[in-house]
Amino acid sequence: MDDLDRVALVERGRAVVGARHDGAVHLDRDPSRPESERRHEVCDGRSRRERARLVVHGDLHPLDNDSDATDRRQVDGPSRIWYAERLSDVPGRPTVAEVSLSALRHNCRRVRELIGPGVAVLAVVKADAYGHGAVPAARVFLEAGAWGLGVSSVVEGVELRRAGVEPPIVVLGGAFAGEEDSIVARDLAVAVWDPVRARALDAAARGAGRRVPVHVKIDTGMTRLGLDLAGVREFGALVRGLAGLEVAGVFSHFASADAVDTAEARAQTARFEQAVEALATAGIRPTLVHLANSAAVLVAPPAHFTMVRPGIMLYGYAPAPHLAQRAGVVPAMRFQTAIGQARRVPAGTPVSYGGTFVTRRPSTIATLPVGYADGYHRLASNRAHVVVRGRRSPVVGRVCMDHTMIDVTDVPEAGTGDRVVLFGDGLGADELAASCETISYEMLTAVGRRVPRRYVEDFTRE
Ligand SMILES: Cc1ncc(COP(=O)(O)O)c(C=O)c1O
Repeated sequence: MDDLDRVALVERGRAVVGARHDGAVHLDRDPSRPESERRHEVCDGRSRRERARLVVHGDLHPLDNDSDATDRRQVDGPSRIWYAERLSDVPGRPTVAEVSLSALRHNCRRVRELIGPGVAVLAVVKADAYGHGAVPAARVFLEAGAWGLGVSSVVEGVELRRAGVEPPIVVLGGAFAGEEDSIVARDLAVAVWDPVRARALDAAARGAGRRVPVHVKIDTGMTRLGLDLAGVREFGALVRGLAGLEVAGVFSHFASADAVDTAEARAQTARFEQAVEALATAGIRPTLVHLANSAAVLVAPPAHFTMVRPGIMLYGYAPAPHLAQRAGVVPAMRFQTAIGQARRVPAGTPVSYGGTFVTRRPSTIATLPVGYADGYHRLASNRAHVVVRGRRSPVVGRVCMDHTMIDVTDVPEAGTGDRVVLFGDGLGADELAASCETISYEMLTAVGRRVPRRYVEDFTRE
């Protein structure tokens, strides 16, 4: 039996950090069972009677975040035990996003195969690893040889650190005023281009007796973030004089996520090379020089420099259909649900809000417990398909907030409880995205908070 304070120390970065408690916990350390299935008992300090279960959901669940009210509950009583329970993990609702760890691993190794030795991989795990869960995905990528992790915001970096992820994390979107202390305390590297932000970060770093690694961000044609070419040298001279900053990297981003073998992309690469030169004339020669997104990993070796920053490829999608074969990656998320109700209706029956679909024949309409609040886009209404019993069925009528109707007339065996794949197995997120006039990135990141992520080694097939 461990005292919780000691456990908090031992388990730092996992579920119990910051727990306030005057009782005790039994940690089930049986390595043969997944963390999520283990029973951790929280006992009263004196009577030793179990008062609650400490639900440690893998690494997903730092307890020191007071803002997440639905994920925390206070157990009344003398022991003031806080424990974690993800409400989305309450069993029953069949709408889940399965994430294949072997697919994530394969995709990261595929990136390494494509870039060859001597080039590092910064695995982009921003936006909760494109919806797959930042902490588990980060762990897999690091095991598969990624050098570090790219996030968009400081809070995403903090989430990873709280979960105990130690390798380098680069905040690609830069820092906002007020985030300096978190950057220093959590040992994050951060993009810089603004003298005001750079000075503030320098002051925070020096105040803590530390040096913060920074990556100078150049805008080579995206017109989003970063320094213009003309300002690189001056900025380089400024940061060189800031003792609290260490220029670890220089980077830019392609304005196209899919076509990086165009004249404009080549011009961006050339501008980037000039910026690297300009920094060198200011006496700065960072070791991490990075420009390549997934598309450039695939088709633009001159843009690999010393590090690449793939995102979408790691999750199993090519940035464009013509790159799919070369990418050789496999979808890592299977977004699925099950038929909640199936009924026969006569011809002429309107379906869903506004009756935008009316049956033309006697039909079997099945209702799925998934809607746009789960990330199944309303633009899928009357356009997209799902997979039932290995066959495609159309989405009919408007997608609702919590429900979606499909026509399974042509799958006569289909019935209540049958698994329905929304995307990820037999139907790509890119295909659904095309039906919704968007991109796979949006389909993946849209999968909502109330959809539990279930981590599996491989998808099971019926
Ligand atoms: C700065 C930066 N680097 C890398 C990536 C990864 O791009 P992709 O997912 O196309 O590989 C992104 C994604 O948008 C990004 O914003």
